[in-house]
Amino acid sequence: MSELILRSARWLAAQYMAQVLRPGDTAVDATMGNGHDTERLANLVGPEGHVFAFDIQEQAVESTRRRLTDAGLSGRVTLIRDSHANMAAHVDRPPKLIVFNLGFLPGGDKQVTTLLDSTLAAVQAAMELLSPGGMLLVCCYPGHAEGQRELDALRELFASVPPQAFNILEHRFVNAGPGAPVCFAAEKQISSAK
Ligand SMILES: C[S@@+](CC[C@H](N)C(=O)[O-])C[C@H]1O[C@@H](n2cnc3c(N)ncnc32)[C@H](O)[C@@H]1O
Repeated sequence: MSELILRSARWLAAQYMAQVLRPGDTAVDATMGNGHDTERLANLVGPEGHVFAFDIQEQAVESTRRRLTDAGLSGRVTLIRDSHANMAAHVDRPPKLIVFNLGFLPGGDKQVTTLLDSTLAAVQAAMELLSPGGMLLVCCYPGHAEGQRELDALRELFASVPPQAFNILEHRFVNAGPGAPVCFAAEKQISSAK
């Protein structure tokens, strides 16, 4: 029996991660949470690559640290307890891939969620930082009020970016209801015009 190809926004994001990253690359997980994406990225960049992962919550950093230690991947990841809006101050080389999975920490405090202003600042910083040919992935959750605001603002931002700088795709399941997750994929042109 064949598997379906059009699956969740998160599944699509994982396909892009695997397509973009090669051993030795640098990647950024802008929202480490419980570290699922951080672990995935660390596996994809291999022992010669590096991952920078951000979260503002100590609980997320500790949960991710345990996951990476158990998987034997700690040596290739820098865990940073700071807002992703400050990523340019921590990431010292142009990443091939930067991923955001917006919202709150699963199993954590639902009040601590990503917020419109810092999300926008971080996405703009990420677009600057990316290497030419690199990719930005942003999964949004409009099922809660701040998530809807983030989605609306990101749509506006991405729609204003010239195609000479980035190709930007919005993945949305049109029959999954208004709160269904949305995944943006933005690929930086090789010779990027602003
Ligand atoms: C949906 S979770 C991420 C789940 C994660 N990708 C995983 O694989 O487990 C979103 C995370 O963003 C974090 N977050 C919220 N605001 C942030 C900020 N300004 N900078 C970095 N992380 C932030 C939250 O603490 C939360 O852990």
